Amino acid sequence: MTDPGERLRSSLAADQSSAASSSGGASSSGADWDSPIAMEALRATRVLHAADQEPFPVPSRIRVITIANQKGGVGKTTSTVNLGVALALYGLRTLVIDLDPQGNTSTALGVEHTVGTPSVYDALVGDSTLSEVVHPTTASPNLRCVPATIDLAGAEIELVSVVAREHRLRRAIEAHIHALPADQRPHYVLIDCPPSLGLLTLNALVAGDEVLIPIQCEYYALEGLGQLLSNIDLVRAHLNPGITVRTILLTMYDGRTKLADQVADEVRNHFGDLVLRAVIPRNVRVSEAPGYGQSVLTYDPGSRGSTSYVEAARELAQRGVDLGRTASGEVERAGMSGPAAAPPVAALAFGESVPSPGAGPARTQESQ
Ligand SMILES: Nc1ncnc2c1ncn2[C@@H]1O[C@H](COP(=O)(O)OP(=O)(O)OP(=O)(O)O)[C@@H](O)[C@H]1O
Ligand SMILES: [Mg+2]
Repeated sequence: MTDPGERLRSSLAADQSSAASSSGGASSSGADWDSPIAMEALRATRVLHAADQEPFPVPSRIRVITIANQKGGVGKTTSTVNLGVALALYGLRTLVIDLDPQGNTSTALGVEHTVGTPSVYDALVGDSTLSEVVHPTTASPNLRCVPATIDLAGAEIELVSVVAREHRLRRAIEAHIHALPADQRPHYVLIDCPPSLGLLTLNALVAGDEVLIPIQCEYYALEGLGQLLSNIDLVRAHLNPGITVRTILLTMYDGRTKLADQVADEVRNHFGDLVLRAVIPRNVRVSEAPGYGQSVLTYDPGSRGSTSYVEAARELAQRGVDLGRTASGEVERAGMSGPAAAPPVAALAFGESVPSPGAGPARTQESQ
């Protein structure tokens, strides 16, 4: 198979020579392949022709990743969308579940989410299966999305009286995976949480095997994180023994500020190897893409935002190869037939501040 970079070179060279001949040979001879624009074009072609390149490694078991941080606007949705698209473009079957009534993930993936659209609400509160509410996306045939409609805003209250309310999403995901033939089961399930610690986020933490926390490289970035970590401890103790924080992703990094470096250092000191080496820069293309119903990878594949999300997804995927296999094979999910039947814990006051030894990093100090 031809290298996509080579293909781009020859097609650009052909364009240039035809432009030169039509303008009477005024153009300079030979292309400058080291110019910023050529480099960006090369980066773009690598992302767009991802399938021609080495695919990301298949995880040793299905990974259900909850993307959570109760702080608003830190990049949960942006990271869910762009990591999801990157995993899918690089060959991994990925299911994205929008669990935020704002429906921003659905918007960014170009998936319909007006009132009445079959959505995650119907699976959580109603009797629908996930298979009935999952939608294809235009980004990749490997990527599917369960959208969220505004109905989900009422789910926090409606779920209160539902039996095993904390387990609704977990059971829906397990039933969905079981119903699919092995070669169609997702390798990755990414769940985008709302900016709160209510019943929706609780469902996502019970459904997941691992948590990915996006942290914005800004002042107050770490505030409130202690409460999230305490809640994850509570969920582990009472509802989902398998849940663990496995990944931290630094987002909206602005290399021009000292503060961004300070936050990044502090997060790395506190969380060590959990923090991905890839850092997502603040990049205007990332924020423009959802307006076109796209991820940044499809909207502007050569941008720094796009390539950094590809790198973050690659790292995430590489960390997934050694998670241990289940007895029944690589497409099974660890503990799938086990803890789903755990009883709901009435005493769990989710959302309240719970002291936990050592939980919660210190508040970031602004640089002087
Ligand atoms: N790397 C980036 N560069 C520039 N803008 C970004 C970047 N990442 C996210 N944004 C923008 O920041 C805003 C918040 O991002 P996003 O919606 O992903 O956060 P969130 O944590 O999901 O928010 P919420 O808590 O409301 O769900 C959006 O307008 C998004 O486009
Ligand atoms: Mg969001």
